[in-house]
Amino acid sequence: MTIGDSKRPAILFVCLGNICRSPLAEGAARHMAAQSGWQGHIDSAATGAWHVGNPPDPRSIAIAAEHRVDISGQKARQLTRDDFAIFDLIIAMDNSNLQNLEKLRGSGNNHNDRAKLALLLDFALGHKGQDVPDPYYGGDDGFAHVWDLISRAMPAVLDSVSSSSNCD
Ligand code: 4NP
Repeated sequence: MTIGDSKRPAILFVCLGNICRSPLAEGAARHMAAQSGWQGHIDSAATGAWHVGNPPDPRSIAIAAEHRVDISGQKARQLTRDDFAIFDLIIAMDNSNLQNLEKLRGSGNNHNDRAKLALLLDFALGHKGQDVPDPYYGGDDGFAHVWDLISRAMPAVLDSVSSSSNCD
C-alpha cells in the first residue's frame, strides 16, 4: 500500500506510548500543514502496545488546545512493519525510540521499504541529537516544554520532506 507519493509525502511521528509526545507532533504538523498549504499524509504511532485504542493523555489534549489545536479525536496505534513501506519519513521523539525503530526495521533489506528514519530534534536549531523528554510521569510544565520543542522542529520537518521527496 502506498500513501505517500512525490506530490503528497507521508510522515509518521513515533514515541513509546502514542499518547503524549507523538500525538502532539501529529497535531502540530497537521495544524502547520493546514496553515502553510503543505499537502501530504501525517500520522503517529507507538513502539509499545500499552495504550492502543486510547485517546491522547488529557495533559497533551490540554496543551494542544491552549495553542488552538484539537488532538482529542486521535487514537493510539502501534507501529507495524508495513509503516516502513508506507511512510517517506518516520520521526522518533527520542533516541531510544529511534533505536527501537532501527531494530524493528532490521538489517534485512525489504525492497518495499521507503522510510527514512530521523530524530525530531535534529530538525530544531541548537537541539541536534537531543530527546523530546518523556513527560508521562511528570507535571503539566513537562507537556508545555514538549509542545515548545515540537513547535521549533516542525517547520523544518515539513520543508525537508516536501523538498527531498520531489527528487525521488
Ligand atoms: P509517550 O509517553 O511515549 O510520549 O506517549 C508515554 C506514555 C505512556 C508510557 C510511557 C511513555 N507508559 O509507560 O505507559
